[in-house]
Amino acid sequence: MRNPIFFFFSSSLFMPVLLFLAISFSLTSSSSVHRERFLRRGSALSVDDPDDVLSSPNGAFFAGFHQVGRNAYLFAVWFSNQSCMLDCIVWMANRDEPVNGKHSKLILDKHGNLSLTDAGYKVVWSTDIASSSSATDVRLHLLDSGNLVLHSFGPRPSDHTVMWQSFDHPTNTLLPEQKFTRFTELVSSRARGNISLGYYKFYFDNDNILRLLYSGPEISSVYWPHPYLLPWDSGRSTYNDSRVALLDSLGNFTSSDGWKFLASDYGEKIPRRMTLDIDGNVRLYSLLWSREWAVSWQAINTPCLVHGICGPNAVCQHNARSGRSCSCAPGYERKNLSDWSQGCKPKFERFCKLLDPETGEFIHFPHQDFYGYDGDFHPDYTLNQCKKRCLELCNCKGFQYKFQKESGKHDCKPKVLLLNGRVVANDPGTFYIRFPKAILSSDQIQQESSTLNCSHSPKDVELHRVYSRSHKSELLLKILLILAVVIAGFEALGVLLVLCFVTETRKTKGEARQGYHLAPMGFRRYTYAELRKATRNFREEIGRGAVGSVYRAILSGDRIAAVKRLNDMSLHGEDAFLAEVSMIGKLNHMNLIELWGYCAEGKHRLLVYECMEPGSLAENLSKGKLDWGKRFDVAVRAARGLAYLHEECLEWVLHCDVKPQNILLDLNYQPKVADFGLSKLLNRGDVKHSSFSKIRGTRGYMAPEWVYNLSITSKVDVYSYGIVLLEMVTGRSPGRDVLETNAGGETEYRGLTSWVKQKMSGEFPTATRIEEIVDRSIEGGYDMKKVEVLVAVALQCVADDKDDRPTMSQVVEMLHRCTNEAEI
Ligand SMILES: *[C@@H]1O[C@H](CO)[C@@H](O)[C@H](O)[C@H]1NC(C)=O
Ligand SMILES: *[C@@H]1O[C@H](CO)[C@@H](O)[C@H](O)[C@H]1NC(C)=O
Ligand SMILES: *[C@@H]1O[C@H](CO)[C@@H](O)[C@H](O)[C@H]1NC(C)=O
Ligand SMILES: *[C@@H]1O[C@H](CO)[C@@H](O)[C@H](O)[C@H]1NC(C)=O
Ligand SMILES: *[C@@H]1O[C@H](CO)[C@@H](O)[C@H](O)[C@H]1NC(C)=O
Ligand SMILES: *[C@@H]1O[C@H](CO)[C@@H](O)[C@H](O)[C@H]1NC(C)=O
Ligand SMILES: *[C@@H]1O[C@H](CO)[C@@H](O)[C@H](O)[C@H]1NC(C)=O
Repeated sequence: MRNPIFFFFSSSLFMPVLLFLAISFSLTSSSSVHRERFLRRGSALSVDDPDDVLSSPNGAFFAGFHQVGRNAYLFAVWFSNQSCMLDCIVWMANRDEPVNGKHSKLILDKHGNLSLTDAGYKVVWSTDIASSSSATDVRLHLLDSGNLVLHSFGPRPSDHTVMWQSFDHPTNTLLPEQKFTRFTELVSSRARGNISLGYYKFYFDNDNILRLLYSGPEISSVYWPHPYLLPWDSGRSTYNDSRVALLDSLGNFTSSDGWKFLASDYGEKIPRRMTLDIDGNVRLYSLLWSREWAVSWQAINTPCLVHGICGPNAVCQHNARSGRSCSCAPGYERKNLSDWSQGCKPKFERFCKLLDPETGEFIHFPHQDFYGYDGDFHPDYTLNQCKKRCLELCNCKGFQYKFQKESGKHDCKPKVLLLNGRVVANDPGTFYIRFPKAILSSDQIQQESSTLNCSHSPKDVELHRVYSRSHKSELLLKILLILAVVIAGFEALGVLLVLCFVTETRKTKGEARQGYHLAPMGFRRYTYAELRKATRNFREEIGRGAVGSVYRAILSGDRIAAVKRLNDMSLHGEDAFLAEVSMIGKLNHMNLIELWGYCAEGKHRLLVYECMEPGSLAENLSKGKLDWGKRFDVAVRAARGLAYLHEECLEWVLHCDVKPQNILLDLNYQPKVADFGLSKLLNRGDVKHSSFSKIRGTRGYMAPEWVYNLSITSKVDVYSYGIVLLEMVTGRSPGRDVLETNAGGETEYRGLTSWVKQKMSGEFPTATRIEEIVDRSIEGGYDMKKVEVLVAVALQCVADDKDDRPTMSQVVEMLHRCTNEAEI
């Protein structure tokens, strides 16, 4: 007897049948790759099939199970166009409770109730809404905007309702056209690689103001808008209680409290997201070239202003090169080495527990401050009174001692907690930390420090969960297994086809991942074509210098910009250029010109700056537009900008070309220093300060070091700044020598500096001497005291020996000391 199966296999029928089966199987397999348009009532999305996702009609967003760890999945909505891991997620159902990678499901039951089950046994999330009994259909759609919507349909079109939508329940991200209201809040993720609820919140408070709050395990405090400021002073209104904010598709954010901003790339319809990041800052990101997120706006430019970042008893410090870092206050040590937010703990017994609590010594730290938690407050205390006061309070950890220029007195603020500590280079205050006497003699007052470690890989996360196992499902599994084995034989060909397909998609995904990186903060990359168009083919030249020419440009959204086209950049590779530019882009100070972007294409190197319409200090001086008040103001603020460059940035940015042409004024005559960082950009290869190869700067403003080939430090900028001061006071340009009649009745030419020095060293009273040198063309009287200080500071700055010159922050301090105005 012949075996029928053998007959089947051996007959000529076999091949065509196998082929047919293989093709039909491969078709069904590949059809599951097809993205679903919507989820029907009574169906589910499963974590087991990576292709079981909903896609928005335009393909920009996916909704489905997103891997967040080795065996951890979230039901989420994410940007589809790339694999950017957690940064692409714009909404998540279960951020605190990721589900298993097997048997987890999102189920839309027949009542329209949407729920998420973990490994088939536990409901971790549900909408908890049932459709009305008259509903004929319920569908889950992912809209083009990224909104996941549960629609209910009835017999009549008017029965069509939205039962639930993800836009009403934002997590840490707001999308364009997503209303932010009194009922919503953004909460940051806990840490890099951990998407569960973190400590930072963005919300409308009871005063109708949009705020950022640090809400830690022990304390909470608002840090934005700056808590010192009244809503008014930060440009907010408390009167509109509609509490609604919206980011439109062009990048225009408006809020009912009057706060608004435009993205730096405003005007373009590109994918954007506004995210409350793990570092407590709100940023607006734009997707460039469909693969790279660039920051186009951020709420806080001084990272250490965010509260809670380093935890208690720690100090935050920031510089442009290494970013933000935390260190324990001296005498304190890390509490948890893997988590800075827990801060530091004292190495000594608490003062209140000591037998003799009033013992204690202080070590002082200039420019440090700990925000808040003042035990009490004493205006007009001497240092000794303040020390005594702190020793009397057993819970006093130290105090802040600060000179108030308004009152001319010192404020004393003993602190009961050391929180929100930070170093501010220009802060005139000093912090005194209290120690038990015993510890002072030991070596325990070492300061530990470390930069925040951001290299945690999100793939380190692993969930330990048990799978639900019922006898029924086991039986089912066995049947399925047998079936699979039988089918496997036939499917060989089909599998092969599918395999090719899968590896192909994997490969492209991996490439996209590598291409992903954050562009530098707050500014973007432009194409050459874009800038050529914006400047109308470089038609309107508004300035020209040694480095290149500056053109007026109109960017998208009608923003006016100044585009600087650098010449002589042939020496610099694109990478080097980008590294420097991104460093300059990170510098952020109200008295420094803002860099909006750059272009590096082929041999083109361009920089895009904000445009200052009223022009430079040089133009304004020559037109006689600046009265004494304004001049002094410009002097102070320009000094602040330079001090920021030198100090906050640890002396790495020397300007090297400080002159009135490089100090631009805005409509309120606020100065902004321009062209900083260019010396660096043009001078790669010999970055050590002491080995600049070529002389930089402008005749008349250059420090003697350049001429005598001495080492170049930040003091060259101080010298140039001194000359600028002299120019502002006298109205004379240092480029031209001054014709002077000397004692013997002969005329001779003198440089500006030596002329002023000579005039000021005379025997006449100061007022008379000043009278002789000031710019007489200025209308209105002048404040003799201020001019005197300006001249005195200027002369110190132009000292021949660099060591005799003050630093820029000392200059700021000296100018401050002389003003009685509340805030200049
Ligand atoms: C996705 O990226 C490609 C290029 O990488 C781009 O052409 C396409 O427009 C992008 N799609 C969306 C929806 O952004
Ligand atoms: C929705 O489903 C969840 C989980 O199954 C359940 O706990 C909840 O009661 C349901 N709600 C409604 C209104 O049916
Ligand atoms: C931004 O949006 C607000 C409110 O819709 C509008 O008043 C304002 O003109 C917009 N700004 C720009 C630059 O389009
Ligand atoms: C409050 O703000 C909303 C949204 O910005 C605006 O439409 C409304 O006119 C404002 N109301 C008042 C009274 O200003
Ligand atoms: C440190 O913090 C991490 C994360 O919060 C936690 O898992 C760990 O248990 C903590 N370690 C100690 C020693 O407290
Ligand atoms: C940052 O953390 C990773 C993983 O925890 C570790 O391998 C790496 O050495 C750390 N880097 C620094 C600078 O501490
Ligand atoms: C994420 O952070 C939360 C809160 O600190 C913690 O409970 C959880 O274990 C963390 N998850 C991972 C995977 O580290």
